[in-house]
Amino acid sequence: MTESRQAWWSRAVFYQAYPRSFRDSDGDGVGDLDGVTEGLDYLARLGVDALWLNPVMVSPMADHGYDVADPRDVDPLFGGLEALDRLVEAAHARDIKVTMDLVPNHTSSAHPWFQAALATGPGGNQRERYVFRDGQGPDGLHPPNNWVSIFGGPAWTRVVEPDGNPGQWYLHIFDPEQPDLNWDNPEAFEDLEKTLRFWLERGIDGFRIDVAHGMAKPPGLPDMPRPDAEMLTHDADDPRFNNDGVHAIHRGIRTVVNDHPDAVTIGEIWVFDNEDFAKYLRPDELHLGFNFRLVRADFDAAQVREAIENSLAAADLAGSPPTWTLSNHDVEREVTRYGGGAVGLARARAMALVMLALPGAVFVYNGEELGLPNVDLPDEVLQDPTWERSGRTQRGRDGCRVPMPWSGDEPPYGFSSSADTWLPMPPDWSSLTVEAQDGVAGSTLELFRTAIEIRHSRGDLGAGVEWLAVPTGVLAFQGTDGVTCLLNATDHPVPLSDEDVLITSAPLVGGDLPPNAAAWIR
Ligand code: NOJ
Repeated sequence: MTESRQAWWSRAVFYQAYPRSFRDSDGDGVGDLDGVTEGLDYLARLGVDALWLNPVMVSPMADHGYDVADPRDVDPLFGGLEALDRLVEAAHARDIKVTMDLVPNHTSSAHPWFQAALATGPGGNQRERYVFRDGQGPDGLHPPNNWVSIFGGPAWTRVVEPDGNPGQWYLHIFDPEQPDLNWDNPEAFEDLEKTLRFWLERGIDGFRIDVAHGMAKPPGLPDMPRPDAEMLTHDADDPRFNNDGVHAIHRGIRTVVNDHPDAVTIGEIWVFDNEDFAKYLRPDELHLGFNFRLVRADFDAAQVREAIENSLAAADLAGSPPTWTLSNHDVEREVTRYGGGAVGLARARAMALVMLALPGAVFVYNGEELGLPNVDLPDEVLQDPTWERSGRTQRGRDGCRVPMPWSGDEPPYGFSSSADTWLPMPPDWSSLTVEAQDGVAGSTLELFRTAIEIRHSRGDLGAGVEWLAVPTGVLAFQGTDGVTCLLNATDHPVPLSDEDVLITSAPLVGGDLPPNAAAWIR
């Protein structure tokens, strides 16, 4: 623990910039890397230590970049490699690290490897790079097993062979345009190593690793016990994920990354058994693992406490710093999750103070610092593959990906010079823009700025927290420096002595902390 607690990432505030939605520099309605560069002063003022950029590699964008056709180049939509170089240089000049998303579980179906696999037909080496199988039943009419795609429908698609006849099936845990790589083939790692070195040598400070509990598949590809699993809720016995072979892959990645001792790897690990989760964080595997327990907890003191205790226990088992996140590009925004409207916003602000009081690394998703809610988008603008793949039964994740409002009174709120943004922006966001909140006491933006500043001034928050005895519905924990975070999740005010109050998420009422609020006190 001690060694990893010294590293910059061990208590960093990471800012997740979803590049399509952060800021558009060239007026095409889609955010880009020069847009992120333009926003760096804003991010420096917010106090973030590092950026996490969702994938910007060359991609047909079937899953908005998580379908990578060339892992060692930046898509022109985002400004190409030069734009990334400009961003890295400008971020480093402000002491902000830059981490990128890496997608090793699958490629795009437009990747030259997959195109070659289709062109050469069954039996060739090219097919060995992916998971091709013959179908079951007469004429191989049925998929090789019962696995379902995370986006809905079967996880297998049948190809038309070069002779024009229906032939083998290939595996895609996500969209058909995201064929899974065969990680039993050494070429998968050889290519990933090239990719890792390519970006590290360009000055990238680390990687968020997509589906870090995926990649390895179990021998024989046994059926799923319950092929009705929903998006991103994997059960412990789900054969698609968390197979033992994945750890050798992470050890390989770590060996390469160790050549750049300051670089960090952060795994997306949807694994909820603590022992299993901790395996990913052994000293020769990932540095950090996303822990999604806080995302799953309701605004309820007992649930929040359990999520925190559990995350701390998992990190402890691993001897690695804990990580915290309330939202990202895959989940409903917390303002909406906690009930929406004024109450949802109040609760989201309170939970921001809870999260920022915890030891370890924190991830803030762009727009969270503005208190953005999820957006109800009309059917015709939905883009997430989940919508079509689920037979239009699940709306998918577009509602949490709407572009950031920067200024002005109407869409596109300074996000772009084009009104035709890639997802429409709501007409009622004028009070949520950066401009409307900048310097305004009590705004969500100022709450985040102040809380991050205090967090930094508190130094090393240690490895755990001390829980204080409080009435039901209230949560109180103390850091090693004696600062207490108090959350009021009851429906009545909680008395507070205000002389030692460092920050509150809502104004005190006659010295009391109102419901749906949190405070830091010394
Ligand atoms: C997890 C990513 O966060 C999500 O956005 C993506 O769709 C899947 N992995 C597939 O790459």
